[in-house]
Amino acid sequence: MADRYLVTSALPYANGPLHLGHLAGAYLPADLFCRYQRLKGRDLVYVCGSDEHGVPIMLRAREEGVDPQDIVDRYHAQIEASFERFGMSFDYYGRTTSATHRETSQAFFRTLYDAGVFTERTEEQLYDPEAGLFLADRFVRGTCPVCGYEDAYGDQCENCGSSLSPKELIDPRSALTDAVPELRSTTHWYLPLGDLQPRLEAWIAEHPDWKPNVRGQVGSWFASGLTDRAMTRDLPWGVPVPVEDAKGKVLYVWFDAPIGYISATKEWAERQGDPDAWRRYWQDGDTSLIHFIGKDNIVFHALIFPALLMAHNDAAPDPQWVLQANVPANEFLNLEGRKLSTSRGWAVWLHDALDDLDGFAGGPDLLRYALAATLPETKDADFAWADFQNRVNGELADVLGNFVNRTLTFAHRFADGKVPPLENPTDADRAVLDSLAEYPEKIGAAYEGFRTREAVNATLDLARLGNKYFNDTEPWKTRESDPQAMRNTLHVCLQLCASLSVLMDPILPLSAARLRTMLNLSNVCPSAPNGTPGTIGWDAAGLALLTEGHALGEAAILFEKIEDDFVEAQRAKLEARAAEATREGPPYEPVKDTIQFDDFAKLDFRVGRVTVAEAHPNADKLLRVEVDLGYETRQVLAGVAEHMTPEDLLGKHVIVVANLAPRTMRGLESQGMLLMAEDREGRLTPVLASDSEPGAVVR
Ligand code: MF3
Ligand code: ZN
Repeated sequence: MADRYLVTSALPYANGPLHLGHLAGAYLPADLFCRYQRLKGRDLVYVCGSDEHGVPIMLRAREEGVDPQDIVDRYHAQIEASFERFGMSFDYYGRTTSATHRETSQAFFRTLYDAGVFTERTEEQLYDPEAGLFLADRFVRGTCPVCGYEDAYGDQCENCGSSLSPKELIDPRSALTDAVPELRSTTHWYLPLGDLQPRLEAWIAEHPDWKPNVRGQVGSWFASGLTDRAMTRDLPWGVPVPVEDAKGKVLYVWFDAPIGYISATKEWAERQGDPDAWRRYWQDGDTSLIHFIGKDNIVFHALIFPALLMAHNDAAPDPQWVLQANVPANEFLNLEGRKLSTSRGWAVWLHDALDDLDGFAGGPDLLRYALAATLPETKDADFAWADFQNRVNGELADVLGNFVNRTLTFAHRFADGKVPPLENPTDADRAVLDSLAEYPEKIGAAYEGFRTREAVNATLDLARLGNKYFNDTEPWKTRESDPQAMRNTLHVCLQLCASLSVLMDPILPLSAARLRTMLNLSNVCPSAPNGTPGTIGWDAAGLALLTEGHALGEAAILFEKIEDDFVEAQRAKLEARAAEATREGPPYEPVKDTIQFDDFAKLDFRVGRVTVAEAHPNADKLLRVEVDLGYETRQVLAGVAEHMTPEDLLGKHVIVVANLAPRTMRGLESQGMLLMAEDREGRLTPVLASDSEPGAVVR
């Protein structure tokens, strides 16, 4: 194990508030890890910050008619405040619009540029003359050259699934202004990732211990072959490209953002009054660099950023940047059984949840615990408010809270509020103290292996052990029959409480501090920066921390139980927000120009029965359907595979446009079209005609 750590959590985009999905991915597990390591006495710096560049921030500003700087100022402040309330223990929380970051990312780029690392390419790209912008692929819409669908994206047709390039679109238009884009030539600098692949593969092979989800994703990137990526963009918002004649160009947000980790460490060092201190963490081979991220960030942290560091190490060999020691990525968190979606209003906002837990004994710790116990470590996990209630009530309150409470109450009533002596302990007493001694190591090993849920479980096991021992030794009986036995029980239980106040600290920092007040235990090392230094660290928590005769503080309730109406209120809030989001969701499609009856009469709609429905052999988004029209059977290709399964159509009576000219799609002929209803979210459902006979005319 390394003795020095630089830990990072993915920089959140400053274009919206934090939600529970964010926490479960990159933040909470990192915070537990860092707090554990600090208690362990390791030299560690934990940095994060707001990611303030990128197209979404720019678009958001455009929509609101404000400056991008206004957007990031607003959300940076909100995000930082929510993190603080949640108990995140960053050593430094920065932002990528800082001067330090601009200089650092520009210098990094310049070094690579001067060493000739980048491939320079000039190409024609679509330009929106009204917005004065080159258009990223997603911002060009037009007619698909393959299927004729009129609203295809510049990189892909959602109807037939063809992947496109924006220049292939027929009648392209800008998604920003609706203007007709022009072709203009522009120059960009590419990182030759393809050339770097062998080195990256060799490097990844040195890390068989990385999480399987990370190695798996990286492996499939290798299998499809890495391709060169442009490290610059034509955009008005970002870090300017530090090269002459690069006016209007900025660094690609995924180039500058990871360098934000470096900038944040520099700013931390500055604030420490030791401006060079960052070098120990970034440029000393003994440091373990660890990036906590969500799974959508794997390629950037496990391949692209390492490739940039390697290339920089070649370009300017002294000093060398450390490379990643691990990139523990989590999968996604679902919510109440459904995929989390901020645009659909299906999200729990952190600031909101914290407001609602305000005033509850335990407060944010309740949320930290419930989330930490269900992290999506190996596969997607679900957060449901009823589970939250079960965890808080059945585990925090009934196990941990109850153990602490009964121990302290008993000690106040029957032992003068002092730690009684341990005399002639029984085998059972000794066995509990012996197993206590193993917990720091056991829990610690889980943290070191990035198995946070296991660490949380093991921590609670110590309280379970305490409860069992309390029950087995029956101090309420021995109080009269054998008072020293009761004193021994209390002595042992109080030691367990003291140890718990250290071992639970990473998960439940506020409650751990409250427990220490109840135990009148001071001198514990802080798990967050800027705490009062102490001498009792993680390893000491395996020993008896309280001396005989030590006077205890007052007992109080550690965790408040969650009532059913809290759960119901949270669920109702979620449903209401989702309903509102869909109401206010995408605009209704405008009604088309008026037509005459004759125009309508040209369309021949028939009822057809679906006799065959299966995947199209060469297109992910298409289904191949055969429909019986009574007088004949047709093959129809429908771009609906993302919205329904073949079984959803099989046997159904659908409505077919029977006189549409046939068209070949990915090698098969489509002889008609099925009518579908498309809602404002773009979800498709078939228009059904359940009890008409095949061939019936629809008019
Ligand atoms: N803002 C990105 C996201 O939310 C994460 C950036 S991580 C960094 O997905 F390394 F680039 F900073
Ligand atoms: Zn198409």
